[in-house]
Amino acid sequence: MRAIDHNTITDAALEQMSSTPDPRLKQIMESLVKHLHEFAREVDLTPDEWIQGIGFLTAVGQKCTPFRQEFILLSDTLGFSALINALHDKRAVEASTKSSLLGPFYREGSPEMKLGDCIVQSPRQQVVIYGQVTDADGKGVPNASVEIWQTDEDGAYDLQKQDGVEIPSMDMRGHFHADAEGKYYLRTVIPLGYMIPMDGPVGDMIRAQKRHGYRPSHIHFMIGAPGYRELATALYTAGDDHLESDTVFGVTDSLVIQVNKDDPNAPIKGMPSIHYDFQLAHAAKLGSGRVGADPSQITKTGA
Ligand SMILES: [Fe+2]
Repeated sequence: MRAIDHNTITDAALEQMSSTPDPRLKQIMESLVKHLHEFAREVDLTPDEWIQGIGFLTAVGQKCTPFRQEFILLSDTLGFSALINALHDKRAVEASTKSSLLGPFYREGSPEMKLGDCIVQSPRQQVVIYGQVTDADGKGVPNASVEIWQTDEDGAYDLQKQDGVEIPSMDMRGHFHADAEGKYYLRTVIPLGYMIPMDGPVGDMIRAQKRHGYRPSHIHFMIGAPGYRELATALYTAGDDHLESDTVFGVTDSLVIQVNKDDPNAPIKGMPSIHYDFQLAHAAKLGSGRVGADPSQITKTGA
C-alpha cells in the first residue's frame, strides 16, 4: 500500500494512466492531471467548492442544445478559445490573416450565394464588403470559399431571433466563392455588438465577476481553398465601445475594419463599403482551423 496524501496522489494518478497507448492522449491527460491537481493545491479547494464546480459544469452541459453551445461560450469567456487560436496561428508555416473566434453561432450549410448577393433577408442600410483572398505572396486564390455570418442591426443572430423554433431558418449567413482572381464582394448590414447569452451558468459567472458581457460589433468569416489552412476569423467595426474589453477576447488590431462612405474602388456604388483582403497560409498538414463549431454537430457527436 502506498501512502496517499495531498502531494503523492498526483504521482499515483499519473502512474495508473501511464499505460495509455496513444502518445498524444497520454501527454494531454498527464498534463491536465498535473495542472488540475496543482490548481486544487494552490487554492486549497474545499469539498463545498468542489461540488459547486461540479454543479456549475453540469449546468453548462444541461444548457447545451443543437442550437446552443454553453461549453464553447465558457471556453470563449475564459479566454481559452482565444488562446487556442493564438497557438494555431503560431503554427502557421507562413504569414496569414489572424484567426478569431468561430463562436457558438456558426451553422453548417449556410445558403450558397452569388457574388454581390445580400445575406440579409430584410436589410435596413446595406453595406458592401469586398476584397481579395490571397496567398502569403499576395497572389489571388481562385474560387476560394468565403462563408460569412453575423447578427442583424439589433445584435441578434437568426438562432436567437427564432428561439424555440424546432428548425430555425437561415438568415444573415451565406456561402460565396471568390472569382478566378480570388476577389469577392457581397452585401450585408453593419451588425450591432451584443451581450453574450446571459441566461445560463456562463451569464451567472460573468455577473459574479462584475464583467459587462458585451462583444463589439463583428462579422464572422470562414475562408478556405484546397491546399490552404482553413481561416476562421472575424472583422470588428472601428469605433465600437467594446473593442478594448471584448468579453471573449476576439479583437486584435489587424482585424478592425473601417466603414468607408465614399470609396471609388467599391464594386457597388451608392452604399457604404468595407474593404478587407484575407491572406491564407499554405497548409502544413490537414486539419481544421475552427475554435468553435455548429452546436448541432456537437450534440450529434455526444449522442
Ligand atoms: Fe459572433
